[in-house]
Amino acid sequence: MPARTVYLDHSATTPTDPRVVEAMLPYFSDVYGNPSSAHRFGRDAENAVETARETVARILNCQPSEIVFTSCGSESDNLAMRGAGWTARQQGRGLHLVTTPLEHPAVGKTVQQMADLMGFERTIISVDKTGVVDVEDFANACRPGTTVASVMYANNEVGSIQPIPQLAALAHERGAWFHTDAVQAAGQLTLDVQKLGVDMLSLSAHKFYGPKGVGALYVRNGIELVPSQSGGSHEAGRRSGTHNTPLIVGLAKALAIAYDEFDAYTTHYCQMRDSLIDGVLNRVPGSQLTGHPVNRLPSHASFVFDGVDGNALLMHLDLKGVAASSASACKTGNPEPSGVLLALGYDRQTAGSSLRLTVGRQTTTEDVDYAVQTLVEAVEKVRRLNREIV
Ligand SMILES: Cc1ncc(COP(=O)(O)O)c(C=O)c1O
Repeated sequence: MPARTVYLDHSATTPTDPRVVEAMLPYFSDVYGNPSSAHRFGRDAENAVETARETVARILNCQPSEIVFTSCGSESDNLAMRGAGWTARQQGRGLHLVTTPLEHPAVGKTVQQMADLMGFERTIISVDKTGVVDVEDFANACRPGTTVASVMYANNEVGSIQPIPQLAALAHERGAWFHTDAVQAAGQLTLDVQKLGVDMLSLSAHKFYGPKGVGALYVRNGIELVPSQSGGSHEAGRRSGTHNTPLIVGLAKALAIAYDEFDAYTTHYCQMRDSLIDGVLNRVPGSQLTGHPVNRLPSHASFVFDGVDGNALLMHLDLKGVAASSASACKTGNPEPSGVLLALGYDRQTAGSSLRLTVGRQTTTEDVDYAVQTLVEAVEKVRRLNREIV
């Protein structure tokens, strides 16, 4: 057993807050009615779902009717892109979509599928070395016939935050709807959709100390989504399927806690993140911070290392009890370097040396010290093994 275990992979997922678990529990076996049923059992469950919707709407500063509950962040992204894209096509407004090379596959692959199989066109705009989109390129890409533009709020691999209000305004000037994937931003940045100016915004509960398997999509009133999951017309016809009452209650409770205690949590994240970044850059030779040096998620530190294989590094860290990830959870064990780092202009070898360390509510100074010391030793070891093999 390692001397200590340190979880530094909060961007992959977070533990469910015990207060959230407690809030969910009655909705498994006590209040178990189907929220769509007309009797009192159903009404009790429906009340819980509608109260959860009001809570989410309060935090997003929107109407409850603008919140659609889904099964995860991926589903929210899929619904936004396909749903809005199909609606716009039906209205004869055009077939052009704009997005970035930074998007999570839930957006990236959906847009690719729409282009490959459904006759849509797409433009993927460029980004700079710090992982921030080129605003001028975005403005030029949105042209007559552009119907949906999607730019993630904050990146899951390098943590960079995008100028969402500016991009949303540009999209609107050019007649396009604007979607943002706020899955990583939730609990760390404002989700006020009026300030952000977005038309659609995706959330996933497990990234903010809620349960896995539940998400939400904000859809501005007036945008009719063609549902990608049809059936019994739940969620005002936008997403069919019996409501998962306990998980929906859990999502709302987790979001409320994250924003009620926002200042304390984000201050803590920033302190832990900054001491991690300082420790790594000062003590690991040949290390570089990736992403934006300042405009980055409070919880997020990401690096590349000269002459190091990212997957080997992860293995060595894991043996010593440090849970981290290489670029993103989806990439772990995948020998292909991160597409995001390639888009930022890193060469393949450097992109293959990436490490993401993301702190959370329970992260302590001792955890950070242990992680930095372990990383110093692991990088040295991986480099030594490399030399011996060569
Ligand atoms: C930016 C981003 N979008 C979407 C998702 C998908 O969310 P979910 O795991 O709930 O499907 C993730 C998950 O890592 C993410 O980081």
